[in-house]
Amino acid sequence: MLTDGEPITWITAYNYSLAKSAELAKIDMILVGDSGGMVELGYKTTNPVTMDEMIQMSKAARNGAPDTFIVGDMPQGSYEISDEIAVQNALRFVKEAGCDAIKLEGGNRVSSRVKAITNAGILVVGHLGLTPQSSTSFGGYRVQGKTIQSFEETLIDSMALENAGVCMLLLEAMPEQPAEQIAKNLDIPVLGIGAGKKLAGQLIIAHDLLGLYLEFRPWFAKCYIPQVITKYINEISSIEDVKKFGIDTRMDGLNSIIIEAIKEYIVEVKNKVFPNKEYSYSINEDDLKKLMKSKYWIKSK
Ligand code: KIV
Repeated sequence: MLTDGEPITWITAYNYSLAKSAELAKIDMILVGDSGGMVELGYKTTNPVTMDEMIQMSKAARNGAPDTFIVGDMPQGSYEISDEIAVQNALRFVKEAGCDAIKLEGGNRVSSRVKAITNAGILVVGHLGLTPQSSTSFGGYRVQGKTIQSFEETLIDSMALENAGVCMLLLEAMPEQPAEQIAKNLDIPVLGIGAGKKLAGQLIIAHDLLGLYLEFRPWFAKCYIPQVITKYINEISSIEDVKKFGIDTRMDGLNSIIIEAIKEYIVEVKNKVFPNKEYSYSINEDDLKKLMKSKYWIKSK
């Protein structure tokens, strides 16, 4: 897809029914994120999430989406201590939950973990920019890559991850221009969440797309329910539906709306409509000029 220039669509799911809806909508990839600790388990941050909880959520997602590429998110505490512990936990995602890859946060500091896990035959996805597990060391949930220092640090970390063997990289919360530059410096697919549309693909948190999590929604995440509901309202039927589709495949419930909303997201990402400016971080002219002086800035490819 990277070679063909077709944007990759990625969504989180933490349970059977949501993963099934995502697969039915024909999403390219699912992330069982540790965000599930917040949106499904009700923790205030992602930090308390345990490996056992991640495995439980990943198993459920795999049951719902047997044919979709699933990435399991290594929770805080599952990979920091040693390469051996990181490999053991990564293996649990694959063996117990049937995940296709794992994701972990951090740059150069996790290079040896990435090497050890890939040496064990497991695909690793990197995650840079805003990394929620260590957000307190960045002073909270803040946009990244706006200063030359932040841009170059992220780029150097990205290259370290690529050298260590990650198969893909996720950039979170970054203006479009520095994010695009990071992608240009790498050969692997770079996907984004809140990082503009010039990347190989997009990730969205399902609970943001559906407006299910009331506590918080980053403004770069689009809720697709308003545009789907108006389209769908006239099509909702009840008993007629049973006659038309059969008792086991009724189309009159919330699930059909969820599938429609995910489909809208897929169409908008594939057509490079989402994320538009409204859902992207901006950078002012002066800051951009400073970034463009970086030795890593590639004018054109
Ligand atoms: O846990 C998660 O869903 C994530 C995204 C916020 C990138 O890691």
